[in-house]
Amino acid sequence: MSLEANTPIYSPLRHYSAYAKVNLGLRVLGHREDGYHELETIFQEISVRDVLTIAVLPEGITIGCSDPVIPVDEGNLAWRAADLLRRSAGIGLGCNIQIKKNIPTGAGLGGGSSDAAATLKALNREWGLHWPLERLLPLAAELGSDVPFFLRGGCALGRGRGEILQPLAIPQGWWGVLVYPNLTISTRWVYENANFDLTKSLKNSKFYSLTGFADKLSDWDIHLVNDLEPVVFNKYPYLKKLVDGFKRAGAFYARMSGSGSAIFGLFLDKSDALSALAKTESSYTTFLFHPVAGPAL
Ligand code: C5P
Repeated sequence: MSLEANTPIYSPLRHYSAYAKVNLGLRVLGHREDGYHELETIFQEISVRDVLTIAVLPEGITIGCSDPVIPVDEGNLAWRAADLLRRSAGIGLGCNIQIKKNIPTGAGLGGGSSDAAATLKALNREWGLHWPLERLLPLAAELGSDVPFFLRGGCALGRGRGEILQPLAIPQGWWGVLVYPNLTISTRWVYENANFDLTKSLKNSKFYSLTGFADKLSDWDIHLVNDLEPVVFNKYPYLKKLVDGFKRAGAFYARMSGSGSAIFGLFLDKSDALSALAKTESSYTTFLFHPVAGPAL
């Protein structure tokens, strides 16, 4: 909802970036009693972003979004984030959140989760709470598995549902090309239809971890995996072809992000990334990106 001209605004309008992520690797380790899957994943924040413009209002939570398909009521994770923070803090204020949406949805890029995390961070400041990160983390975990990662950003290893985080320092000197093949994939569908071989001893071993291969770029293609790829590539073989195309174009690493549908290729040289971008099917949505560094470790 857009703000009406006579709405009293209690703060200057401020802009907040909500960056996307890619999963550089993702292993599914088992089924959990809560119906989720136990994961090990490397999250990397990237420079593709939504922009949130926030105004503090006397009451009510209202959202406007540049993408008309996205809900602007409690179906929007940013709305739920604002509501949860307001209830948890006993705040008697409201807000208007305008979302300029650039991150494709249903793409495995965490756009909704990032908007929710940016909302928590922004309102923590705008509502004058100034809670430390540790106090926001449980609220983020309640909103969704990927939301806690976006509170800090950068690069992190995620365990549990993805909410148990450990900051990672990995090489950052590369460029990425992201392709959104205009296809929305439901995360729930992927997990329900995947046939995870959870008996493989190496993968289940506590001695095997994605982190063991994270700090050397030449190891990524050999050792990092995304266990969600087989089910998605089986249904949509053209996504696998995008991965292969990136490798032919000189990518040192290419994968599906999260549960898809976005595919990314990583290049050491910006010029190689740009020429791979130019070769991508023109009806797809594409982005050139670089990794976003988190706060100092
Ligand atoms: O956490 P989020 O709401 O994004 O997850 C969407 C769905 O994906 C869950 O309802 C669940 O079916 C599946 N999922 C899972 N294990 C995870 C993350 C998601 O089974 N670790």
